Amino acid sequence: MGFFNWVFVIFVLNFFSSKPAFSGSSSSTSIGLSGIPDRFLQFAKKPELFDWMVGIRREIHENPELGFEEFETSKLIRAELDKMGVRYKYPVAVTGVIGFVGTGGPPFVAIRADMDALSMQEMVEWEHKSRNPGKMHACGHDAHVAMLLGAAKILQEHREELKGTVVLVFQPAEEGRGGAMKMIDAGVLENVNAIFGLHVAPNLPVGEVHSRAGPIGAGSGFFEAVISGKGGHAAIPQHSVDPILAASNVIVSLQHLVSREADPLDPQVVTVAKFQGGGAFNVIPDSVTIGGTFRAFSRESFMQLRLRIEEVITGQAAVQRCNATVDFFTQDKPFFPPTINHEGLHEHFLNVAGDMLGTHKVKDLKPLTGSEDFAFYQEVVPGYFFLLGMENKTRGRLESSHSPYFQINEDSFPYGAALHASLAARYLHEFQPEVSFSDTKHHDEL
Ligand SMILES: *[C@@H]1O[C@H](CO)[C@@H](O)[C@H](O)[C@H]1NC(C)=O
Ligand SMILES: *[C@@H]1O[C@H](CO)[C@@H](O)[C@H](O)[C@H]1NC(C)=O
Ligand SMILES: [Zn+2]
Ligand SMILES: [Zn+2]
Repeated sequence: MGFFNWVFVIFVLNFFSSKPAFSGSSSSTSIGLSGIPDRFLQFAKKPELFDWMVGIRREIHENPELGFEEFETSKLIRAELDKMGVRYKYPVAVTGVIGFVGTGGPPFVAIRADMDALSMQEMVEWEHKSRNPGKMHACGHDAHVAMLLGAAKILQEHREELKGTVVLVFQPAEEGRGGAMKMIDAGVLENVNAIFGLHVAPNLPVGEVHSRAGPIGAGSGFFEAVISGKGGHAAIPQHSVDPILAASNVIVSLQHLVSREADPLDPQVVTVAKFQGGGAFNVIPDSVTIGGTFRAFSRESFMQLRLRIEEVITGQAAVQRCNATVDFFTQDKPFFPPTINHEGLHEHFLNVAGDMLGTHKVKDLKPLTGSEDFAFYQEVVPGYFFLLGMENKTRGRLESSHSPYFQINEDSFPYGAALHASLAARYLHEFQPEVSFSDTKHHDEL
């Protein structure tokens, strides 16, 4: 999962209301359709497909590339799409690739994988360890790419069954650089009716998937403030304006935003994680820099926090005769919106994943205060994000993502690939114009 900020324009436009809501149909219960998930899973488990996905993942793992630098990863994706005979657009948002499988006409459903690695050193000693010092696939985006290519292969093999077009979204720069937003700016969601995404989860059992309707990830933003006073001799404080004391009061006051102003039933986080100022025992510095992050599960709560963080910093600094400037970095790092799953797509997910894995393997997810740039897509079209279990207790526990000891259980790949493909294929079947939708206007668009 990444960390980011979101763009205010997106808040203003309510795309959700201008797009038809997905609505399931009774056709999903017909034998052919309910058979799709199991057939696709059996196909994904075949050694040819499984070994091929594993090979791709290991090749990408050896050559991790940071956000907007995924040139070799992107090249590998295109080479595989070429071999399969899948059409694609490139470049999209620098290194991104958009593939198309199916009729080429509407409806359109997107499935998404992120491609970027993290700037950290891999500590796992194995044959396919990162060959790029200081770079590592420690979030599993290498596995995400392999599984989306797996889905492409399943869908391409079954393309005559597709009742529309599946859009394969290979996205750069999930880790805090807002790659999803650049993909949207490049038009990736034009005509797209819904989008699905997944993330590998090291602490959930392999063969299980976890998600829920509504918010599953927090909106996230960063702030930094420079609190300026007047430096001087530490023994003569009356001749200085002390920014250390002012910053300390600011930090304490910021803690009251969550404890005194937020609804206790609406989870929020304000953390000051950075405090820089002073360098000597006997000198009051001119200024102090503090910084941190804030999280909330709705855009209203998030924007309220943003507003109050600025007010509290400047107001509390003024009490101590200091000036403060606050920066939210929205140019480099847009705010990440909360990850909010569409209700109708949740029903669809329960049906498809339940048919594939058994309903007892499809579990409810507790919301996380982490964030994921998939949320940008969900601001534009109905979207659904879920976690794919990887843990196999007989093989020991897996380290959490962003750990230098992070590892992937490749046994999860057939589930991820088959779920991507089944969610998309079944969606196209159930989203046909003859199906009765309450929003008849949409029939004309189709
Ligand atoms: C704060 O800003 C005002 C207006 O620019 C200035 O006059 C004052 O000296 C500043 N105070 C400090 C402590 O920097
Ligand atoms: C877990 O690992 C064991 C040992 O490798 C294997 O036999 C078993 O099939 C795995 N379970 C799953 C659900 O993948
Ligand atoms: Zn991550
Ligand atoms: Zn991730």
